[in-house]
Parts: sequence; C-alpha cells; structure tokens
Amino acid sequence: MTSPAAAGMSPESEPDVFVDDWALVQTSSIGPRTRIWAFAHVMAGARIGADCNICDHTYLEGDVIVGDRVTIKSGVYLWDGLRVEDDVFIGPQATFTNDRFPRSKHAFECQVTTIRRGASIGAGAVLLPGITVGERAMVGAGAVVTRDVPDFALVVGNPARVVRMLDRESDGAGLDPRDPSRFSRPDHPKG
Ligand SMILES: CC(C)(COP(=O)(O)OP(=O)(O)OC[C@H]1O[C@@H](n2cnc3c(N)ncnc32)[C@H](O)[C@@H]1OP(=O)(O)O)[C@@H](O)C(=O)NCCC(=O)NCCS
Repeated sequence: MTSPAAAGMSPESEPDVFVDDWALVQTSSIGPRTRIWAFAHVMAGARIGADCNICDHTYLEGDVIVGDRVTIKSGVYLWDGLRVEDDVFIGPQATFTNDRFPRSKHAFECQVTTIRRGASIGAGAVLLPGITVGERAMVGAGAVVTRDVPDFALVVGNPARVVRMLDRESDGAGLDPRDPSRFSRPDHPKG
C-alpha cells in the first residue's frame, strides 16, 4: 500500500522538517525542525511554526495558526479559528470548539480561540468557543473552560475556576522556553 507521503501528498516546506510517511500534510507553511508524526492530517492553509511536535492522530484545519516550539499531543483536533502562540503545550485529547450554538448543516460564525504564549492545556480539557487562555496559564486535566483564563492562572474543574496563580520559580512558569537544558527527554524521538 502506498503511503500518502510516498504518493506525493506530503510536501516538506523546509529540508529539516520531518513528516512521517503516514502523515497527510497539505500545507507548505511549516517552520524548520518541526516534526509531524503518523496519522496527523494538516489541511491546506494551516500555518505551523518552527520546532513544533505534532503527534500521531492529530488534525489541523486550514484556518489554524500554530507558533514556534508548540507541542500538540495525540488525539487533538485544531478547528478553524484557533490561534496557538509560541511555547504552548496541548495535552492529549484536549478538545477545542468554534461554534457556540451548533446545529447540523447551518452556517455559523466561527469564533476565534487564542492560547497565549507558554500556556498549557491539560489532557481531556474542553474549551468553549472564543476563549483566550492567558500567557503561561495552565488548564488542569478534564477542565471545562467557559471563560477566559488570566495570565499565570491555574484553572481546574467544570466549570473551570482559578484555584491559584502560578509561580515563576516553583511552578516553572518563568522558565525560558528556548533554553535547551529544560528538555527532560532530549534523546526521545518524540520528546
Ligand atoms: C492541576 C494540576 C496542574 C495540579 O496542580 P497542583 O496545584 O499541583 O494541584 P495538586 O495536585 O496539589 O492538587 C490540589 C487539589 O486540586 C485537585 N486537582 C488536581 N488536579 C485537578 C484537576 N485536573 N481537576 C480537578 N481537580 C484537580 C486535587 O485533587 C487537589 O484537591 P484537594 O485539595 O481537594 O485534595 C494537575 O493535577 C493537572 O491536571 N495537570 C495536567 C496533567 C495533564 O493533563 N498532562 C498532559 C500531559 S500527559
């Protein structure tokens, strides 16, 4: 069986971009050193920055912008209107939305969701449309985010509430994301 990449459907915009043979990548806007793993589907028009890790079983629609050094774990679908700034972490199975009152086969106004620089989204969290998650904020696993999250806030629960503000030192919220020494698994292919 011929993989999508072997069939010429997986252009690599930069020589050092890695696209797995079993990924389907239809955009040419991918920054250097970004890695895209098997069964990811990236639509035409999507923009991905440098040094990103796009894990297996992910989907990016065309009106999606992803910054530099972003990690998108498996089972995450990024719908139109999503803006992901630099150094964001998106945990497995996190769910984004862009239609506040969905009805089948009706036109809708696509709402923009923004994940600010350095924020993290826990596994299985759900974000309602139009949300902004603030800089270096953290959304706990399984949270349902119905309102904007302030910079440096930790939110958990359904509906998500701020439980505390994150500390630059003890919570690592002030780490320089470009410092290579912070990588915990430098030898892991998907680390
Ligand atoms: C929220 C989180 C960051 C921990 O923050 P923390 O400040 O260290 O919190 P603690 O572990 O000290 O727990 C404090 C309280 O919050 C609760 N809590 C922790 N995580 C929670 C969550 N996701 N949802 C609801 N409550 C949570 C704990 O049960 C505890 O409650 P208690 O005081 O009644 O016992 C962490 O639990 C979490 O959800 N991380 C995301 C993990 C993830 O998704 N990783 C993805 C990559 S694998």
